[in-house]
Amino acid sequence: MADTTLEQLQELIAEMEARREKVLAGGGPERVKKQHEGGKLTARERIEKLLDPGSFVEIGTFTEHQGGRLMRGVEAPGEGVVTGRGTVDGRQVFVFSQDFTVLGGSLGKMNAQKVTKIMDLAAKTGCPIIGLNDSAGARIQEGVDSLSGYGEIFYRNAVYSGAVPQISAILGPCAGGAVYSPALTDFIVMSRGSSYMFITGPEVIKSVTREDVTFEQLGGADVHSRKSGVAHLEGDNDEDVLRLVRELLSYLPQNAREQPPLHFTEDPSTRKTPELLEIVHPDQRKPYPMHDVIRAIVDDGHFFEIQPDFARNIVVGFARMGGQSVGIVANNPRVMAGTLNIDASDKAARFIRTCDCYNIPVLTLVDVTGFLPGVAQEHAGIIRHGAKMLYAYAEATVPKVTLITRKSYGGAYLAMNSRDMGADVVYAWPTAAVAVMGAEGAANIVYRREILASPNPEQTRAEKIKEYKEAFDNPYVAAGKGYIDDVIAPEDTRRVLIQTFEMLRSKSEQRPYKKHGNIPL
Ligand code: HXC
Repeated sequence: MADTTLEQLQELIAEMEARREKVLAGGGPERVKKQHEGGKLTARERIEKLLDPGSFVEIGTFTEHQGGRLMRGVEAPGEGVVTGRGTVDGRQVFVFSQDFTVLGGSLGKMNAQKVTKIMDLAAKTGCPIIGLNDSAGARIQEGVDSLSGYGEIFYRNAVYSGAVPQISAILGPCAGGAVYSPALTDFIVMSRGSSYMFITGPEVIKSVTREDVTFEQLGGADVHSRKSGVAHLEGDNDEDVLRLVRELLSYLPQNAREQPPLHFTEDPSTRKTPELLEIVHPDQRKPYPMHDVIRAIVDDGHFFEIQPDFARNIVVGFARMGGQSVGIVANNPRVMAGTLNIDASDKAARFIRTCDCYNIPVLTLVDVTGFLPGVAQEHAGIIRHGAKMLYAYAEATVPKVTLITRKSYGGAYLAMNSRDMGADVVYAWPTAAVAVMGAEGAANIVYRREILASPNPEQTRAEKIKEYKEAFDNPYVAAGKGYIDDVIAPEDTRRVLIQTFEMLRSKSEQRPYKKHGNIPL
């Protein structure tokens, strides 16, 4: 009797294993081969590369499609998406990985249910959500149910935004309304050459606007990393993208209630940075590499830049200082003289808000002459976009430290987190200058009459410029009025900044009650 029961049990287990094997095989060897030939990993291989070895626990393995007239007789092992939990560097994350070998990874009702289930678990347990996207979009056979499935995912993307980090890797097609799930998440990482994102594809575009464009030209990783600003990072292939996702996670906390993890470093917090004397030129017209300034002051010289190829006139990204995650926002004097334009304002504002959501202190490095002048910028709404930066800085309650490296003029002085806009501490190097505008422009306006009336206008102009420079082109006027807290030597910068962030670690700031702010969009 006991033997019979054991036999029955073994049969049941064998059946379970056979069913599981079928699900693990996805769309079968032919389609897996096609996936590999396209230079892509399968959904499960991607999960293995993303997570710590052996940490994946699958959820929803035996989910089946909902049926329906057009789905009769159709097999969809795993329902076209693999979902579950695992760890990255020992910290729990939830992951969904669309399986292109099963009905093109298309999204139907039950496929969406698998995704929303793990999104809900992530929110309940306070853990990041990672989406590995590779899908032909709405499952045509399921009609409105698949649209509803997208809706349920979008809804959660928005509701959980700012509560737990959400990262989207784009590793294949992502078209139509489907792009809006990644677009609602914190970060998009695309693989070069094998992924694309667009609302309407080349064929529809051809029929409507008669434009000829390839998938890659329309919505490849290069386009979204350089032109549209949709992608935050670009990897060479699946493995590279997954490596970037892992590193990105290392700067983020598990959720909005936690602090980012501290990382031990052998780089002393008191390390002097004399190389900065070589990098930054006192002549304000000479551009210098802001990236070198950043690398000099952060732990181990490692800067994880976000959107490195979009709006290059501003630099944003993560680093560590004394082991603590910091978000860095810096003007880039080498591109458009570091002026702020529409794209730079959008890029910086979004990054500042991301840091604020996830308790990451913000360091702002300022060398800016102002907002970019021009009819095109004005008509395209630089007022509306520039306002986002002001709003984002003022709204952020994380520790905010500003260092003026050289010039800080006009409205951009405020947009780059001046003391009045909420900076906790403002430093300047002796090379800094804070003014309404540069000495040349200021002298031409203020002393216009005297210059015109002078028997030697050029000499008078030069004298007035010199006079104005002596009065304002230095950090001491602003420091004298308390707008700058201290003028520091470049070689002491790392030590001073780390000590300042340590001082601010317990910062807590309450704001008046509101449902949510109304950032200009
Ligand atoms: C169901 C689909 C499918 C879909 C593809 N398949 N798209 N099944 N619903 N939307 C199936 C194919 O029949 C095929 O099955 C398998 O997936 C792989 O597709 P292929 O065409 O062979 O692959 P490939 O040549 O690589 O081309 C990939 C593709 C193409 C470019 C994505 O499949 C395509 O254009 N599909 C339609 C995309 C689309 O229009 N989706 C709806 C977008 S609108 P077999 O059995 O042969 O392997 C949308 C709205 C979302 O998504 C709205 C949210 C609000």
